[in-house]
Amino acid sequence: MAFENLLKKIKGKAKLVDEYMLTNLAGDIKELYDACKHLIKAGGKRLRPFLVLTTYNLFCDDIEKVLPVAAAVELFHTFTLIHDDIMDQDEFRRGVPTVHTVWGVPMAILAGDLLHAKAYELVAKSNLPSEIIKRIIEEFTETAVIICEGQALDMAFEKRKDVSIEEYFEMIKKKTAWLFRTCCRFGAMSASAEEKYINILGEYGEKMGIAFQMVDDWLGLFGSEEKTGKPVGSDVREGKKTYPILYALEKANEEDRKKLLDILMKEQKTEREIQEAIEIIKKTGADIATKELAMKYAEEAISVIRELPDSEAKADLITLAKFVIERSF
Ligand code: IPE
Ligand code: IPE
Ligand code: MG
Ligand code: MG
Repeated sequence: MAFENLLKKIKGKAKLVDEYMLTNLAGDIKELYDACKHLIKAGGKRLRPFLVLTTYNLFCDDIEKVLPVAAAVELFHTFTLIHDDIMDQDEFRRGVPTVHTVWGVPMAILAGDLLHAKAYELVAKSNLPSEIIKRIIEEFTETAVIICEGQALDMAFEKRKDVSIEEYFEMIKKKTAWLFRTCCRFGAMSASAEEKYINILGEYGEKMGIAFQMVDDWLGLFGSEEKTGKPVGSDVREGKKTYPILYALEKANEEDRKKLLDILMKEQKTEREIQEAIEIIKKTGADIATKELAMKYAEEAISVIRELPDSEAKADLITLAKFVIERSF
């Protein structure tokens, strides 16, 4: 497989990041720290720290210096996942029960809060120059605000029938793509790269992140729970306005459209209704259309970085953008 080498590399770097994260998550209150470590120990792709490390490697070799930043973005990501699972009422992730399912919602909120705080701590105590630390903390804070806005839109859209494609893109840019953008900018910033490169890499991350979320939407309807470790059909159950769902609402015949909308907006849905909705969505060709458009974003991401000098790190960024489309997990 073409992606095997890349996945091996990501795993190798993830080991360093995991060690760094876990040694920084020790404390006396067992329940709280167990809740914090639960998803980290369960797995995950570790794409965000990989992006920090790889964009750093475009300019510098000594990974040690940027490791705290790489660990920080993954802690931050874990925090958003724990809180997202509460918002989305999902019962499993990474193949294990979600944090609030095991420890209850109040403890899951706290675990998320702690991880959020730790992410800042790791950046603040890193050995990077203080002006770079300051800038990273500023952009981290901006990112946290933007993700909150994205998540608020995501939830508001559950109750609406008239969400436009434009609104959808605004929502996923904020809830998902912005963190990818931030990770790429952090790698370049930590390496004291020129402003021009920080911006180019941020743009790569944002476009790749959009493609990434579109494929997440695809996997949430047409993927395999065994492979993703996440529930399939949960987006229908929650009335989410994902790309394939919006596409189907636009393209379905009048009867199917009405049926799909009825199911989506119902307070309680049966498993059969969720399956029926997925069939209607598939019938419109939304599965193919979603992948095709995601591919366009991934291609744009690749073309944004073409002016960077060739290197192993650049080749990895290109392969990663392709992997994001083909992935089954
Ligand atoms: C899940 O992200 C949340 C989204 C933004 C879609 P990932 O698919 O990167 O989750 P893990 O870290 O691999 O579990
Ligand atoms: C993920 O959104 C965005 C954040 C966690 C901030 P989703 O709700 O679409 O992601 P999954 O599918 O649960 O991982
Ligand atoms: Mg979710
Ligand atoms: Mg969500």
